[in-house]
Amino acid sequence: MIALEKASHPLKGDIFVPGDKSISHRSIMFGALAEGTTEITGFLESADCISTIECFKKLGILIDHSIRPTNGVPTITVHGKGLNGLKATDSTLYTRNSGTTTRLMSGILAAQPFDSNITGDMSIEKRPMTRIITPLTKMGADISSVMGNGCAPLHINGGRKLHGISYRNQVASAQVKSCIILAGLYADGETVVYEPALSRNHTEIMLSSFGADIHNEIAADGSAAAILKPGMPLRGTKINVPGDISSAAYFIAAALMVPGSELLIRNVGVNKTRCGIITVLKQMGADITLLNYSDVGEARADILVKYSELHGGRDKKFEIGGKDIPTMIDELPMVAVLAATADCDTIIKDAAELKVKESDRIATVVENLEAMGCDITATDDGMIIHGGKPLHGADIKTHQDHRLAMSFAVAALGAEGTTRILDDSCVGISYPSFFKDLQSLL
Ligand code: S3P
Repeated sequence: MIALEKASHPLKGDIFVPGDKSISHRSIMFGALAEGTTEITGFLESADCISTIECFKKLGILIDHSIRPTNGVPTITVHGKGLNGLKATDSTLYTRNSGTTTRLMSGILAAQPFDSNITGDMSIEKRPMTRIITPLTKMGADISSVMGNGCAPLHINGGRKLHGISYRNQVASAQVKSCIILAGLYADGETVVYEPALSRNHTEIMLSSFGADIHNEIAADGSAAAILKPGMPLRGTKINVPGDISSAAYFIAAALMVPGSELLIRNVGVNKTRCGIITVLKQMGADITLLNYSDVGEARADILVKYSELHGGRDKKFEIGGKDIPTMIDELPMVAVLAATADCDTIIKDAAELKVKESDRIATVVENLEAMGCDITATDDGMIIHGGKPLHGADIKTHQDHRLAMSFAVAALGAEGTTRILDDSCVGISYPSFFKDLQSLL
């Protein structure tokens, strides 16, 4: 349990956040499937990404940690064995809390010559896997939910020849898209995944840097396709992981929560498919500037954020929905907290996916914001937040959801009295040093 009080002074500083979680997972996975070594710097050493490392070690991949003698930078080296180099394991691959590990690895395992079993913790065993079982089965894979409930544990019979597919996903999901693309690397024809809006495209960007023939096409209505032509070998490369915008989001929000604050967050990944939080907060009046922008490979920048009062414009109503949702899906708990302090009603819609994240984030955000005195209503696909009522301290139930713990730690900085984050250890899933980094600004 961690107890936090209302911030007593503005937050000022020049900070870094740890590496991007989505990019870190992929760097291990693609490195393992590449020929030769892949050197990764900026890797996120959190529970989720360590799960990915452990799973690949079980599949026979050597992965070393070292400190570069020239500059002291921690480096992870993956000794890839090529697309056909993984070895069978008798034990079940255990992904802990990581949806990305579970879904992306299933695409790889579906194409192997050996059988495998994969599962994770209680939260993973409740999350929907039919969304990957259906397309993988269409490709010729033999993958099933062991309990028959559409969730993990999953059993995969190997030795199946996979075929490329053209698959139309109803929701924009990078985990589903990436799972299909990874299976597609082994298929006998082109694989195309269509989605209603472009979900985070780290798989496409990174696979191309490994030598794969893959690209995105965006239609005039914003719907998107990822197109993979298999057959190119993957070659080991060097990857420098930028800071995670999802982790930076807590400090952006903290600066907007505490009057007089000004924070510079350095070297953050600002891929457009991830930056919805910046777009939306600017529309609500936030003073956020990107400095030192570079778009070689994954775009990155320093983010300068200055305290600003958030509002909903002349009619005091702000709507967040549609194609913005996939670009800020993991930041919606944080945005909901900020909306509670804004001088407007905020409607979050088209976000039913929140129900199937690490917790049901519609229910858990509403429960905790209500406990802090916010006037908020859950809807089928989001929530309606009547902002502007002062927040007060409360006991926050995280439901072991890291994003809840961090969002409500930031809420505490703007709330009267003491806020206690119960079950705070879940921050280790994506940001082990979060409380230390936050305390350093208080
Ligand atoms: C992720 C994709 C998103 C996101 C998750 C990480 C990824 O999930 O919520 O935290 O690394 O591909 P969905 O694909 O289910 O939207």
